[in-house]
Amino acid sequence: MKPIRKAVLPVAGLGTRFLPATKAVPKEMLTVVDRPVVQHVVDEAREAGIEHFIFVTGRGKAVIEDHFDIAFELDRMLQERGKQAAYEELKRDLPAAGQTSFTRQQAPLGLGHAVWCAREIVGDEPFAVLLPDMLSRGCMGQMLSAYERHGGNVIAVEEVAPEETHQYGIVSVGETFGQTFEVTGMVEKPKQGTAPSNFIISGRYILQPEIFGILEHGEKGAGGEIQLTDAMIKLMGSQDFFGMRYEGRTYDTGSKLGFLTANIAYALDRKDLAGPLKAEIAKLLADH
Ligand code: UTP
Repeated sequence: MKPIRKAVLPVAGLGTRFLPATKAVPKEMLTVVDRPVVQHVVDEAREAGIEHFIFVTGRGKAVIEDHFDIAFELDRMLQERGKQAAYEELKRDLPAAGQTSFTRQQAPLGLGHAVWCAREIVGDEPFAVLLPDMLSRGCMGQMLSAYERHGGNVIAVEEVAPEETHQYGIVSVGETFGQTFEVTGMVEKPKQGTAPSNFIISGRYILQPEIFGILEHGEKGAGGEIQLTDAMIKLMGSQDFFGMRYEGRTYDTGSKLGFLTANIAYALDRKDLAGPLKAEIAKLLADH
């Protein structure tokens, strides 16, 4: 079984659900506490052992490339002013030279198209995809363990209320093996009341490179976009897919409510912020 060394992070979307904030600032650069969302996602992948990060960018996203580069003047100024801890943190956050690649999706034609844009850099090996607006700490580590057990293709899933299923890609559940199960079907944004399960595809994938040959055809699906889900459905004809129930909570920071909730949840996990934040929340709740 080939190891998973590379991760694709598609960051070329328009972020229309978060306008006007995302008019000039990529939604992947909005901060959850004091780190850009995309940094949290790179942290998750690095902790799982991913070695190479392929960003599929688009117009107005150059700041993401700058974020994953050395800021020479800033580094020097922090050292001169004795701000060693901040300097060390910036250094820690940065993948090593040569561990990042940037390619451009010239038009936001859909997630499937964005992934296909990374084909030359991924090459002929299985790879991970992490949607950088979905925060799910530790998920990629759990996915890699599932991949080591089952091989094939692995999709992280999470259970939602039945009335929410129409907003997501949904999987059909076959034989189960503890936290994982065989995926027997998938559907993108099913009409209300028609979803085959309550398990949503939550933004983390391990895929075999044969997916590129299917995406190559550029077939459009839901919303007129080239959907990754449609290509995975085709690949299911010849390869195994497993769903992995993520042990944790995913925050969709591309939606305003998900973003606000993620900020509170991540701040409550911080020793320096939890106490004062709880006091502030209590005051706000008392006033409302
Ligand atoms: P989303 O559908 O959440 O992103 O795609 P979006 O299109 O930017 O969001 P809204 O609905 O308009 O608010 C999930 C991820 O896939 C990327 C996005 O940047 C996001 O991180 N994506 C999506 C691309 O890179 N290219 C695309 O054509 C579409």
